[in-house]
Amino acid sequence: MSLSTVPNSTSEAGPQVDVESSRAWWQQAVVYQIYPRSFADSNADGIGDLRGIVSRIDYLTKLGIDAVWLSPFYPSGWADGGYDVADYRNVDPRFGTLEDFDLLVQSLHAVGIRIMVDLVPNHSSRLHPWFVEALAAGPGSPERDRYIFRDGRGVDGSLPPNDWPSHWGPQGWTRVEDGQWYLHFFSPDQPDFNWDNAEVRQEFEHTIRFWADRGVDGFRVDVAHGLVKDMSEPYQHFTSFSPLLTPTDGSHPLFDRDDVHEIYRGWRAIFEAYDPPRMAVAEAAVPAERIPLYASSDGLNQAFNFDLLFTEWSAAEFRTAISTNLDIASSSGSPSTWVLSNHDCVRHASRYALPPGTDRNAWLLASGREPSEDRSTGQSRARAAIMLLLALPGSAYLYQGEELGLFEVANLDVATLLDPVWTRTLHTEKGRDGCRVPLPWRAATDNFGFSAGASPLHQPGWFADFAVDAQEADQSSTLALYRAAISLRKQLQGRDVLAWVDTADEDVLHFTRPGGWQSITNFGSSPVPLPVGKVLLSSGPLLDGLLPADTTAWLTSTA
Ligand code: GLC
Ligand code: CA
Repeated sequence: MSLSTVPNSTSEAGPQVDVESSRAWWQQAVVYQIYPRSFADSNADGIGDLRGIVSRIDYLTKLGIDAVWLSPFYPSGWADGGYDVADYRNVDPRFGTLEDFDLLVQSLHAVGIRIMVDLVPNHSSRLHPWFVEALAAGPGSPERDRYIFRDGRGVDGSLPPNDWPSHWGPQGWTRVEDGQWYLHFFSPDQPDFNWDNAEVRQEFEHTIRFWADRGVDGFRVDVAHGLVKDMSEPYQHFTSFSPLLTPTDGSHPLFDRDDVHEIYRGWRAIFEAYDPPRMAVAEAAVPAERIPLYASSDGLNQAFNFDLLFTEWSAAEFRTAISTNLDIASSSGSPSTWVLSNHDCVRHASRYALPPGTDRNAWLLASGREPSEDRSTGQSRARAAIMLLLALPGSAYLYQGEELGLFEVANLDVATLLDPVWTRTLHTEKGRDGCRVPLPWRAATDNFGFSAGASPLHQPGWFADFAVDAQEADQSSTLALYRAAISLRKQLQGRDVLAWVDTADEDVLHFTRPGGWQSITNFGSSPVPLPVGKVLLSSGPLLDGLLPADTTAWLTSTA
């Protein structure tokens, strides 16, 4: 670890990071998430694929990112967009082959971009050979012990073993033909592994080595807080499925149990045996104070900080989210990970256009309209937000399409939805397809240049205005802003420290960074004075020395 502590000049001062060190590349990285099905299609079947990504290396290079994180591309039943893995060490034929994967790694590395892959250890697909074997082998068999099978309650065992819900439905158990039940946090297509089983542990270590040997630089660990479960009887009853809603202390039967870190200590030892060491970021929906357990020096390297996914467009809320996570970074020694959007939530350009407190699902269900009426507010705020985010110490995780300023495709025809959330919740939650619609590359080409064949998730007509070619021709486009901001950040980003500057206006967030630069964001509705300094970049036009509403500017610290 190239971390050393610097004297604290402010309460939010954090560890010093050696950004030059390749061991620590991830600590201040800009990571770009690719959802492979919707990025670029190379063979006209309407499904994005690995060769499609290879064909866009130039685009990724111009964006200036440090790493790509690929959502699952493994053989899968596609019951949950690939988060139901049937073979952890292969490529789904719809995405390509292992040779295509090697080509992708080589092509990215050749231009200095690292690659992270998604590891899905909590559950497999129902199609995984181990689950097929478990069903065939029957109750009490070693095959069944790799998953979580139990007898049911009631005279004939027809009631589930307990009352645990699943994320997407009232029941976390599904019954199989011989009468036993298996546990699944998510859909019945995603049976949970039994992490007390030694074979399961060995299998994942094998999988980690397999991808690390192929040149993968890091892993994003799906549902990292869920692997270890307390299955002892009597089963604990709980009412909320989300530990975010009920802060835990490691005592919840299914989430965030302390023993999970023993698994990650083993993985870290594997990562450290590589040169440069491999890394991992945890997707762990845990209360802030528990994050350092995941983002640690002997466990996973980082954990996602999802606070900004739930933060309204408000200076006070942003300041709280930023301060909280800088404090966490300080105590864990692992710089924070900032996220505005990902494949699981409504795109932030749409969120910022909605009135505060809007129920996102209700809005999706009600939405029959295109985003044109909300465009300008959502767009300016999204532009201001990314500049604020890129000015923060730590790493920034971007989601494909946000660099185009894409809005959520809110009015997808429900008959075309692919996300299991829609069916599992009996049509009460519309799900996550609105942020998974294929990217628009060329305004005047069929399917906007995504593919010669149409995707099941229909691209709306307004995507033409957001197409890459249209934005490349426009210096004031959101794509141009992302490119400029990422490139400038690379020159400016230094030690992991931020100092707040007090402002007279409560709608303004202003901070300085080491190396002589500062960032200021106006969340209010009227222009405010700019601080002294030379303007380096702004998210929108400035007005006679004033910072307009919904705008961020970066400036030098002195005139
Ligand atoms: C994670 C993924 C999400 C998936 C779930 C189950 O939360 O981000 O897309 O549905 O895990 O694997
Ligand atoms: Ca394809």
